[in-house]
Amino acid sequence: MKTRTWPDGRLVVWAPAKVNLFLEVLGKRTDGYHELETLMVAVNLYDTLVFQEDMSGEIEFRCDDVTIPQGPTNLVVRSALLIREETGSFGCGVKIWLRKRIPAAAGLGGGSSDAAATLAALNDLWKLGLSPPELSELGARIGSDVPFFFHTPMAVGSGRGELLTPLSTPLPLHLVLVCPKEGVSTAGVYGQLQPSSERRPIEPILEAVSRGDSGRVGQLLFNRLEATACQLCPAIAAAHEAIQTEGLAGPLMTGSGSACFGLAPSRTVAVEAARKIRERFPGRVYVARSTP
Ligand code: C5P
Repeated sequence: MKTRTWPDGRLVVWAPAKVNLFLEVLGKRTDGYHELETLMVAVNLYDTLVFQEDMSGEIEFRCDDVTIPQGPTNLVVRSALLIREETGSFGCGVKIWLRKRIPAAAGLGGGSSDAAATLAALNDLWKLGLSPPELSELGARIGSDVPFFFHTPMAVGSGRGELLTPLSTPLPLHLVLVCPKEGVSTAGVYGQLQPSSERRPIEPILEAVSRGDSGRVGQLLFNRLEATACQLCPAIAAAHEAIQTEGLAGPLMTGSGSACFGLAPSRTVAVEAARKIRERFPGRVYVARSTP
């Protein structure tokens, strides 16, 4: 995430989206979560959050997207309440504005990134002195994907996705993101997932990443949740087809969907493919790249 402090003390944070280049499910755990092996990379599609300290002690939240929950179920509000409670800083207040660009329920980690941005921003604004591992641990209590945003730009996730090994050599990847209008519930996809006896190894794609071979990365993209999510949301297959028609590598669904992406060899190719997909696909289409 990128941060800037304005002269009047307001803090602005740009919270990136992520895509999963690889996601294998290793099994269901006794706590109801699924054990994962995943490779995640941050991409340059950002929500913007502005934080202003409020001496009244209130936590006030506004979002330009009225379809997003504005109350205590919102991950931004939950993060603010959690960090205040954990640090015993009950007198601290804040006004938070969120400008939403990352589609919700798309598997792009938008809500998780907003949560991570909130924890980091309030740690600064309220001078709480929590370390990055402490912030990441608080994030894991909000959602499995939140800790990744303290380990950007690229990391391997295990456990339920919250145990992270950062990768120091991120590839420059050019993506076209295709987001159906319909979102998908993460719990719904995991709930319908049938156990599989197959196991796709993560090592080949990690080797391709470490060699900087983005062409090979394109051949090794994989997501175990995709077939199940397609059954719940047919628009995912349509997004897939739209990307495939343009000859991009992949396509692959990210996270539990519904967004899909394809990899292009250059930004020029990505821009042209996105233009053609927009002409016929009824959803949002973005050109993006992995963040440096
Ligand atoms: O962690 P998070 O709140 O984002 O997870 C939402 C839901 O997705 C969980 O309640 C669970 O049903 C499912 N999930 C899972 N295994 C994971 C991550 C999420 O089963 N590794």
